[in-house]
Amino acid sequence: MKHEIKTEEHYNFLKSYFTFNTSLEDYLKSSSQVLCCRKDEQLIGLTCFKIIDNYVRIYYSLIKEDYRGQGFGSELRATLIDMYHPKTIFITAVRESNIINRKLLKKFDFIEIDRTVYSDGEVKLIMKRDGT
Ligand SMILES: CC(C)(COP(=O)(O)OP(=O)(O)OC[C@H]1O[C@@H](n2cnc3c(N)ncnc32)[C@H](O)[C@@H]1OP(=O)(O)O)[C@@H](O)C(=O)NCCC(=O)NCCS
Repeated sequence: MKHEIKTEEHYNFLKSYFTFNTSLEDYLKSSSQVLCCRKDEQLIGLTCFKIIDNYVRIYYSLIKEDYRGQGFGSELRATLIDMYHPKTIFITAVRESNIINRKLLKKFDFIEIDRTVYSDGEVKLIMKRDGT
């Protein structure tokens, strides 16, 4: 697990899965940080996050399809929590239909604190993990 400086490689990795409107330029300019998981130098997973005061806001988390269900997502999440625990509060959002991500969040003690909707109408669960 490695905390890396954002590059085009991370952007392209996210773009391979997610549909988002952010341009490469905006992505590189934004202050979000990236924690990565590599195998033989090859990027197999990452999580993007941003620190705002004592909050860590988690944006995208993505594990390459062939490597899912093997604990890499959990490893990324555990590393991120270890980096900022115990004072930090973690906030993220998850689609109601994303059962695997919801299981992952539950495993790390995230609880639902609110719900809204995504632009496509799907329910968006706002999840929080308290610092101690
Ligand atoms: C969500 C994601 C990052 C999780 O990463 P992962 O490496 O697959 O997750 P892990 O292998 O660490 O599994 C975490 C937990 O999810 C659950 N899980 C994983 N794979 C599962 C499957 N196929 N079926 C049911 N539950 C599953 C388990 O509860 C597991 O914990 P456990 O093994 O201790 O029981 C990954 O699946 C992914 O990239 N999905 C597509 C993108 C996405 O939805 N990102 C999140 C929104 S930004």
